[in-house]
Amino acid sequence: MNPFNYISIAEGDNFYDRVEETKRVVDTLKGGNNLVLFSPRRYGKTSLVFRAMQQLEKQGIICVYLDLTPIYSLESFAELYLQALYQKQTVFERFVKMLSDLKDIRPKMTFNEFGKLEFGIDYIEPTISISTVSEIIDLPEKMAKEGKRVVVVMDEFQEIRKLAKFNIEALLRSKIQLQHHANYLFLGSKTHIIQDMFLAQNRPFYNSAATLQISTLPEKDTIEFIISKFKSSNITISEELCRHIIARVENIPYYIQLLCAEIWQYMMPDLNEVNQDIIDECFIRVVESKSDYYFERTDRLSQLQKRLLLALTESGENIFSGKYMKKNRLLGASSLQKAVAVLLDEGIVDKKESTYSFCNPFYKYYIRYYASERNASRRNAINTKIEDGKFVIEN
Ligand SMILES: Nc1ncnc2c1ncn2[C@@H]1O[C@H](COP(=O)(O)OP(=O)(O)OP(=O)(O)O)[C@@H](O)[C@H]1O
Ligand SMILES: [Mg+2]
Repeated sequence: MNPFNYISIAEGDNFYDRVEETKRVVDTLKGGNNLVLFSPRRYGKTSLVFRAMQQLEKQGIICVYLDLTPIYSLESFAELYLQALYQKQTVFERFVKMLSDLKDIRPKMTFNEFGKLEFGIDYIEPTISISTVSEIIDLPEKMAKEGKRVVVVMDEFQEIRKLAKFNIEALLRSKIQLQHHANYLFLGSKTHIIQDMFLAQNRPFYNSAATLQISTLPEKDTIEFIISKFKSSNITISEELCRHIIARVENIPYYIQLLCAEIWQYMMPDLNEVNQDIIDECFIRVVESKSDYYFERTDRLSQLQKRLLLALTESGENIFSGKYMKKNRLLGASSLQKAVAVLLDEGIVDKKESTYSFCNPFYKYYIRYYASERNASRRNAINTKIEDGKFVIEN
């Protein structure tokens, strides 16, 4: 079996480092404080937090985990929340009793297609009221008052913005600050948005949680990890080549595993020593295997967004300077602002201080080398089209 994993969160002996960060998460929540943990995409937040939750649960704290990625309505938020709370119930009757005060909904149990009992809700009214959502938000505190302390983890918390028209951010904040037996851990991967939510004075969550920003994993530990995982399949790789892998994927934990998994696959069953050509070949194989998806993703963007992406493959500094805009034909600061906002919002690029960068090093490569097949003319690029199944920019 491939010893590298990027499909699910890292656990067991697939997880390395993050000792201090895990301790910080556990100590902060155990100490009765709320925490917001953020990093760009795929740095290992969820893996780290699952490890911290295991430790908290061992110490008798109930951890309720919900990932806000799929929410799109108040109803979906309520269902997600109730499902997550239900997962932590040992006595279903007690949970039903807790829900009996909710006005618009009733809990129900049904058998799914595999004959397994499933929790769900029935709506008394076609839509759920904000006061019911407010009562749902109070449930962790009610649960905690019955005995064990509760920690609620909200992953991809920035997605709560999808419910902005219901003012849910302010509601959540006002409820949470009155709860003394439940604590909250918020995770965010769109760093500029999450920072704004917690650090801007005019936002409801301003100053409501300690902050922890996680960075990439230490190179030394990653090298050790890569060498030992390959060794378990009798494959050797030098430290220098491990550094080459790390550099190619800009040290992003998820992409390190993805590239290593591809290399391992390539080596099987006969090759036993990794060299640089193999690494570079595997890097391109990953890009090619995703090129349909990258094409679709790019094709949806406006011309300005595409041109900006191409420019970002070279540099993401001072992008609003006259020099940068002129060089890359990004005319109009206000339209450029909008284009940047879309790319940030879609999670295609990330912003650190005032520098913009790609979230995905394979996609960056795709844009740089596939989108600019005819490099010479790309500065004058206006339109895009497909050529040989690849995305190109036309004059
Ligand atoms: N501590 C770690 N040890 C080993 N691999 C790790 C570690 N953390 C993350 N990874 C690798 O990165 C991948 C993504 O991890 P995870 O899903 O925890 O990141 P994330 O920051 O939550 O990502 P996203 O932003 O997509 O939610 C894992 O599948 C694993 O391959
Ligand atoms: Mg995650």
